[in-house]
Amino acid sequence: MATNRTFTMIKPEAVAQGNTGKITDMIIEAGFKIKAMKLKQLTKEAAGEFYAVHKERPFYGELVEYMSGGPIVAMILEKENAVADFRKLIGATDPAEAEEGTIRKQFATSKAENAVHGSDSDENAAIECDFHFSADEIVG
Ligand code: CDP
Ligand code: MG
Repeated sequence: MATNRTFTMIKPEAVAQGNTGKITDMIIEAGFKIKAMKLKQLTKEAAGEFYAVHKERPFYGELVEYMSGGPIVAMILEKENAVADFRKLIGATDPAEAEEGTIRKQFATSKAENAVHGSDSDENAAIECDFHFSADEIVG
């Protein structure tokens, strides 16, 4: 997996609120190329596995319920310095701490329901892309 890729999900509440297009526009405007994209609803098992790193955290149960509670839009994004630049574009986990102009500042409703996911490292970006997409679902 190239290190100029990151993985994102538009989270269930943002999809349900009709913000998929606006968020996708912000991503494209920021210079990211969409290499793969799908609408899907995660099972509880899949959401639990995706967020397994947070298994011991007090919010894990609610996170799994929330992330499996409605469709998400998963994407693989490409750009130079993709992981860091995308984390900058989405803003802090808690929208109260997110900078103006970030996706979470504009669309997150709480620290839990914060509109989008972004990978936190090249290593996790590769794992997360593989988790959601097979090779034939990614454009060259
Ligand atoms: O998504 P991000 O990498 O910014 O944050 P994280 O610490 O990896 O947490 C993953 C997700 O768990 C967050 O995006 C929130 O949806 C949720 N979370 C939560 O509900 N309560 C917290 N105190 C921290 C995270
Ligand atoms: Mg994280």
